[in-house]
Amino acid sequence: MRELTYFVAVSLDGFISGPDHDFSAFPVTGDHIEMIFREYPDTLPKVGLDAMGLTATGDRFDTTLMGWKTYEVGFEATRDPYPHTRQVVFSRSHTQAEAPPNIVVTDEDPVAVVRRLKAEPGNGIWLCGGGDLAGQLVDEIDRLVLKVNPIVLGGGTPLFSGVTSARTWTRAESTPYDSGVVVNEYVPAATAG
Ligand SMILES: NC(=O)c1ccc[n+]([C@@H]2O[C@H](COP(=O)([O-])OP(=O)(O)OC[C@H]3O[C@@H](n4cnc5c(N)ncnc54)[C@H](OP(=O)(O)O)[C@@H]3O)[C@@H](O)[C@H]2O)c1
Repeated sequence: MRELTYFVAVSLDGFISGPDHDFSAFPVTGDHIEMIFREYPDTLPKVGLDAMGLTATGDRFDTTLMGWKTYEVGFEATRDPYPHTRQVVFSRSHTQAEAPPNIVVTDEDPVAVVRRLKAEPGNGIWLCGGGDLAGQLVDEIDRLVLKVNPIVLGGGTPLFSGVTSARTWTRAESTPYDSGVVVNEYVPAATAG
């Protein structure tokens, strides 16, 4: 079955962006970025891929899930950030007319959407963010890949918002980079019985 992976950059104090959605504290150069170019090109926006002369094929992730706030962060650059994937944007207040036709804007329950996507054939599903959407999907996540940046932001968007019960994870892999970023990969802890 297809996996839902939350692949995301996070600060030491658990924020995926700073106050006022400031994303500038996360370094965009360094050996961890080279790893992303190599292993996770599907998570790079097309404008970035084009600038680097790279292409993405959707081999790792062929579907991207975003909350509207994550989607709109990139509006100055593009309204079609990951065209190499099927893009689904969740919103209760915006409509399909506000996005290009290849982007699905929906107010459907994210859990129902994810369960349906998982039942279809295809490659991985990337939960891009943000914390609001991730909080609702925490129990559906099959793999958590945290790019932990050595920064304390002191506030901003939490990795998960609104989670009310604990979920335990098992570390699958941990890779330190010279840049100071550590990429930690987790899978849900096996449930007893
Ligand atoms: N570090 C990283 O790698 C990374 C990755 C992604 C995002 N981010 C950051 O995360 C921040 C945004 O995260 P966020 O937590 O504020 O917001 P978000 O999860 O991106 O989006 C929240 C919005 O999604 C819509 N939504 C949420 N649940 C829904 C549901 N059940 N049904 C329909 N629509 C739903 C609502 O949109 P409406 O209000 O339109 O109804 C809600 O306001 C940005 O600063 C972004 O830069 C960081």
